[in-house]
Amino acid sequence: SGPLTVGEFAKLLRKEASEVIRKLISLGIMATINQEIDVDTMSVIAEEFGVTVEYKEEVDESNFEEQEENDDPEALVERPPVVTIMGHVDHGKTTLLDKIRHTNVTAGEAGGITQHIGAYQVEINNKKITFLDTPGHAAFTTMRARGAKVTDITILVVAADDGVKPQTVEAINHAKAADVPIIVAVNKMDKPEANPDRVKQQLTEHGLVPEEWGGETIFVPVSAITGAGIDELLEMVLLVAEVQELKANPDKRARGVVIEAELDKGRGAVATVLVQNGTLKVGDGVVAGNYFGKIRAMVNDRGRRVKVAPPSTPVEILGLSDVPGAGDPFMVFEDEKKGRAIAERRMAKQKEEERGGNKRVTLDDLFKQI
Ligand code: GTP
Ligand code: MG
Repeated sequence: SGPLTVGEFAKLLRKEASEVIRKLISLGIMATINQEIDVDTMSVIAEEFGVTVEYKEEVDESNFEEQEENDDPEALVERPPVVTIMGHVDHGKTTLLDKIRHTNVTAGEAGGITQHIGAYQVEINNKKITFLDTPGHAAFTTMRARGAKVTDITILVVAADDGVKPQTVEAINHAKAADVPIIVAVNKMDKPEANPDRVKQQLTEHGLVPEEWGGETIFVPVSAITGAGIDELLEMVLLVAEVQELKANPDKRARGVVIEAELDKGRGAVATVLVQNGTLKVGDGVVAGNYFGKIRAMVNDRGRRVKVAPPSTPVEILGLSDVPGAGDPFMVFEDEKKGRAIAERRMAKQKEEERGGNKRVTLDDLFKQI
């Protein structure tokens, strides 16, 4: 989250914009409702209203902002779309992804329930697509709450024999809130009880109107078991991605988000990260969540060692000092000392919070309250 306008900031504080403007004026700052105010000013104003604001990405991390701003349009190249598959339990998300990858992940899952967010890349017509398979929606919610926009497109899986269910609606709400386009995969079309028209009818009530009914939502009938319709589904993903003109700069230091992480007995802290911009390389110094590390090795989604991971690539990284959280941002620091210092400071801050000492409100918390 960068600077906010006076109006947005007032909303966060649950104050009238006029009150905030009055405070600003009392500080000698003439501001209008649409004017952006910086973090320091926000802190001062918030304190005036009795709220302590802590800015999550502190000045030290301006390194990261600089990188964003310096994106020369010439340096931008097309990047693969990152697609999340969402939908109600048992509607076939994992089976669909398996079919797409021509592998069989479900067989290895305890009780057939997705335990991890898998992150995979597939290639269709010489174009790559990155997929995230989600366990429920918890991690997605965390990431969104932290302001990380991870997904470019959502495939909403709805079983044609079961129709729209509570988690289907939840998924729609998540995608809408994150402003991510939805492609509907009407799954289990091989079943005799399949009723795709009912699915269309139900989704129309939630604002997803099929193109053939005059709306804008792409519906693709598929069967994750037989594979029917899957090529068309992937073509639609590429089509929607093309319209989005997704670009990134592979020639800079990488940043992205931690998808999942764990402590592996033999390998130490292992994190699956999604590179969102830049190129991640073996040997890079990286801060992920509260931890710093030098990347010792990287493993791709097929279990192969790789030396570089360009934008939109999911990759496992080894070498972090400890296990970061799912949804934590990561970024590469050229200056190792700075990276270590930032990680240490974040750690100290977290410990202080855990001790329950000084009660503070972060901008994140404020966002969550709206
Ligand atoms: P969770 O990860 O638990 O939320 O479930 P999921 O959405 O990943 O569903 P999963 O892929 O595990 O599929 C649930 C069940 O539906 C399994 O028994 C699948 O074999 C079955 N199934 C999935 N897709 C199809 C389909 O297209 N046709 C038929 N007939 N069965 C399907
Ligand atoms: Mg699953």
